[in-house]
Amino acid sequence: MTLRIAVLASGRGSNMVSLLDKIREGLVDAEVTLVVTDKPGAGCLAKARAADVPALLELPRAPGESRDEYDVRLIACLQAEAPDLIVLAGFMRILTPAFCSAFEGRIINIHPALLPSFKGAHGVRDTLAAGARLAGCTTHFVTADLDGGPIILQAAVAVMEGETAEELAARVLVLEHQLLPRTVQLIAEGRVVMLHGKAVIADGPSWMGEVPIVADALYPAAF
Ligand code: GRF
Repeated sequence: MTLRIAVLASGRGSNMVSLLDKIREGLVDAEVTLVVTDKPGAGCLAKARAADVPALLELPRAPGESRDEYDVRLIACLQAEAPDLIVLAGFMRILTPAFCSAFEGRIINIHPALLPSFKGAHGVRDTLAAGARLAGCTTHFVTADLDGGPIILQAAVAVMEGETAEELAARVLVLEHQLLPRTVQLIAEGRVVMLHGKAVIADGPSWMGEVPIVADALYPAAF
């Protein structure tokens, strides 16, 4: 069954594009039926339009609106669309517990650091500032615990001597573009199951032969 996806994004939307590309190439059995942004005019909207996503929604926060009130509106929009999966691709809002429980187990996020280290809005910068030897990205289920939900996939690269945060972020972004579509395809195949609060990936065919990942390490290695 083709997975129906709603993407939530606030910025340039390169992760959304990587997902749309892999869907078009037939590597991900999904369709993006809705893109929502909280930032009117964000780059992701034009890219979604160019990719013929059927529904685009600008949903900025209204003046004086609380986080709870905003999420009530967001939940209503998403429930009307009834996606199988909600993908946060650079959505820069913290979601309320009400939102997380309305779509429990059906929201994933891509984070530009190796969780559970370096949570928050500056994953790459914080990785570098900490002097970590490994940088990378993580896909995970979204819970009310910010960047703390069950980890699905991670990919890592070694930090290079003298590298700037921008340079490292660019290398991590390359990994993100590979990790997010893989994660969605694993979910589309029904291979990601929750066991004792952790995401477990069932065995099955992998992309590794077809589309080698450009990373020093991919975890779990088989996917
Ligand atoms: C990515 O680095 C993602 O990991 C983070 O926000 C950024 C979004 O980039 N959550 P883009 O809009 O997908 O290009």
